[in-house]
Amino acid sequence: MRLTDEERSMLQGDQGEGVRKAMEIVVALGTIYSADDFVPVSHVQVSGVSYKNLGDAGLEFLREWAAQGACVRVPTTLNPAGMDLRHWRELGFPADFAAQQQAVLDAFTAMGIEATCTCTPYLVGYAPKLGDHIAWGESSAISFANSVLGARTNREGGPGALAAAIVGRTGRFGLHLDENRAPTHLVDVRCPVRRASDFGALGYLVGKRVANGVPYLRGLDVAACDVTNLKLFGAAVAASGAVALYHIEGVTPESNLKSQPSNLKGEFAVESLDEGYAALNRADTSSIDLVWIGCPHASLEEIELIADKLDGRRVRSVLWITAAHQVRDEAASRGLLARIEKSGGRIVSDTCLVVAPVEALGIRCMATNSGKGAFYGPSHAHVATHFGSLEQCLDAAIRGEWQ
Ligand code: F3S
Repeated sequence: MRLTDEERSMLQGDQGEGVRKAMEIVVALGTIYSADDFVPVSHVQVSGVSYKNLGDAGLEFLREWAAQGACVRVPTTLNPAGMDLRHWRELGFPADFAAQQQAVLDAFTAMGIEATCTCTPYLVGYAPKLGDHIAWGESSAISFANSVLGARTNREGGPGALAAAIVGRTGRFGLHLDENRAPTHLVDVRCPVRRASDFGALGYLVGKRVANGVPYLRGLDVAACDVTNLKLFGAAVAASGAVALYHIEGVTPESNLKSQPSNLKGEFAVESLDEGYAALNRADTSSIDLVWIGCPHASLEEIELIADKLDGRRVRSVLWITAAHQVRDEAASRGLLARIEKSGGRIVSDTCLVVAPVEALGIRCMATNSGKGAFYGPSHAHVATHFGSLEQCLDAAIRGEWQ
């Protein structure tokens, strides 16, 4: 890789051990992926925040890096942690877990990182612009940033993203380059795709077919491609196929530029979503401990829709709507939180089912309208999972069982 004088000096340790270590990581990644040089990044989203996933070894690694003087030099935000930072006690999170999780956050904030703890930084003031180079971890956010916002990021791992934040740059490879943003697969959608769960089922099916590729979708109703539905599509296609960038004809900002695809490896049609619904709806019991909406974290519009649909009806199962704490606060100030809580639901911040210590909360079976949530529920949270529309999920919450 070509290094500038400043980069060479960082690598030699002139700016301290914390910076040297970060530079070593970004140089190693850039070399592995044959980057010629570095590109400056304007924002970093760090994943790998939950103590459930990091454990004591991860916590120690972060503490040591912070003690070595590592400090971020570009705005940097965090993915969800393993608990709601303000309400963990009343939600039943164990105190010993909470203490370790707080220690993880202390290490991150000591490095100058903002404890946003959301997978939707783009909903809370951190939306990159078209063409911005960023370094984001969190597959659903990466997919949204690349595809819907037209920013440029690879799928960064936790240490790689943190290193990029500390040195303010990342290797110029992968999706930072024009040639890798062209579609690899044409997908003709020939069935109705309207609801958020439809977009999740579609994302699951497309991801299975184009793993690691760049799908270009035709035939979707442009009016149905709103922020919520694109958020859920991108999360599902990233979960089932590690897709970091997609284009939708007439919707996403780079779809026009790619009307003459040059990297094509395949073409297929989606005639029905049934297979996607069937694959994601895998629980064999009808009783529900929890209904989970907000994967990726819910927007204010989604929360308002849920409050309207509940319309004061009481839920029997636990109902969690996960959202950024800024969104929760805004929902509170608009009276939406009170309406949700009147029905017995909760808006839970800073965390989600996949990164929370679900076993300790006694959850065995859940329902969700998220394709990603349903994809990872059984494997990552070890929870039997039903998947369906928002209406089906809220009905299940009210009845306490899936029908
Ligand atoms: Fe976000 Fe957790 Fe879903 S990080 S995308 S709510 S699995």
